[in-house]
Amino acid sequence: MANIELDGKTYPLSIVVGTEQEKAFDISNLRSQTGYITLDDGYGNTGSCQSKITFIDGEKGILRYRGIPIEELAEKSSFIETAYLLIYGSLPNQKQMTTFSDLLTEYQYIHEDMRYHFQGFPTGAHPMAILSAMINAASCFDDGLMHWRWGRGCQFERYAARLLSQVRTIAAFSYRKSGGLPMIYPRRSLKFTENFLHMMFSKPFEDFDMKPEVARALDLIFLLHADHEQNCSTATVRLVASSQANLFASASAGVCALWGPLHGGANQAVVEMLEEIHREGDDGSRFIAAAKDKTSGRRLMGFGHRVYRNYDPRARIIKGACDAVLAALNIDDPLLAIAKHLEEAALRDSYFVERKLYPNVDFYSGIIMRALSIPVEMFPVIFAIGRMPGWIANYREIMEDPKSRIYRPRQVYMGAPLNHYVPIEQRT
Ligand code: ACO
Repeated sequence: MANIELDGKTYPLSIVVGTEQEKAFDISNLRSQTGYITLDDGYGNTGSCQSKITFIDGEKGILRYRGIPIEELAEKSSFIETAYLLIYGSLPNQKQMTTFSDLLTEYQYIHEDMRYHFQGFPTGAHPMAILSAMINAASCFDDGLMHWRWGRGCQFERYAARLLSQVRTIAAFSYRKSGGLPMIYPRRSLKFTENFLHMMFSKPFEDFDMKPEVARALDLIFLLHADHEQNCSTATVRLVASSQANLFASASAGVCALWGPLHGGANQAVVEMLEEIHREGDDGSRFIAAAKDKTSGRRLMGFGHRVYRNYDPRARIIKGACDAVLAALNIDDPLLAIAKHLEEAALRDSYFVERKLYPNVDFYSGIIMRALSIPVEMFPVIFAIGRMPGWIANYREIMEDPKSRIYRPRQVYMGAPLNHYVPIEQRT
């Protein structure tokens, strides 16, 4: 128990202790007892829920899905197995895995009428805009989603598999549409990630040359993005879900939140930054100087994190994969050398050291995606496909919690005091 003293009175606050000894004061009754709220711009110090899905220790650089270290999953698991782990809480046995994979295969096609929606977008439209719109539009093609009520009979397993499977089809179609290319349909014989690559890169009557290193690297990127506790997009999904909106509507909002350059759009911003440095013949020092200057409007993209004050463990894995993929594909990308140089220089620089700014997951992932010939506008889309299991798991968690209430933060009003309407002719 902790006490808070206000105006000479003491109010007890109960303490919540997490599995890994994370501690929180429960302030949920503070306002009704004291008239005060807590103020925490950007929620940097606010726990919005109790969750059993993902654990992060930002100081130590630890990330675990359902208790399993990310390093073990990256080495031994696949994206789809990890998706099951996140959504259902434990690794699947063989029968559960087969049922899950069969459902993903069954739902890989989108409604044929949805193809006409794609035609309405201009060529060159950003695939994140198309993705978000089309995930939401998919609700209209299913009565179960249009009249969604969480609970027995809502067939969550089917809808979860459908969302996970169809997001990949919609994502690939978004890419084809934005480039003015003909749609390539999914194929039942292919696994999740191979199927995505097929829809992205096969041509009519000419199959994509599927290199196992490429499929494995992309699967790893999906896996490493699969969840990351209460980040901006997941918190958005939970917020929308708290109003009892359906699964697809909530995920579509997650895509919008993910799009911004400070979140899922950072991987695109990193490659654009590296390209600019390369184009200008800078060895990175000029860019680093600009990133440290608050008036320049620049930041070292792919560096820093709200939670990690240490090396992001996903960045470490991706950096290793980056070297392996480029070697396997025999690619010599000058951007990799620039990225490594930037990292070394920043990690020696007192500005970054003092602020504990380290590479995050986005710093090297873009270089792998470039090597796989994925265009930069698709980088946040790849992130969205990867993050889908985390959003689904968080959606399920909020829906299954009998204590869950609609998310409704408070504010401290700093605007004008009471004012009165003045007719237009009397206004100066
Ligand atoms: N380059 C230069 N300075 C930085 C950077 C950066 N990348 N990141 C943070 N800083 C500075 C801030 O200016 C601030 O300096 P100050 O204390 O002198 O004012 C200090 O470090 C603390 O930064 P905050 O803005 O408080 O960090 P916050 O937690 O709000 O933001 C964020 C985290 C958005 C990730 C930030 O580090 C950033 O903009 N990074 C670049 C974008 C990026 O890589 N985003 C991807 C994040 S990972 C993901 O979403 C998957």
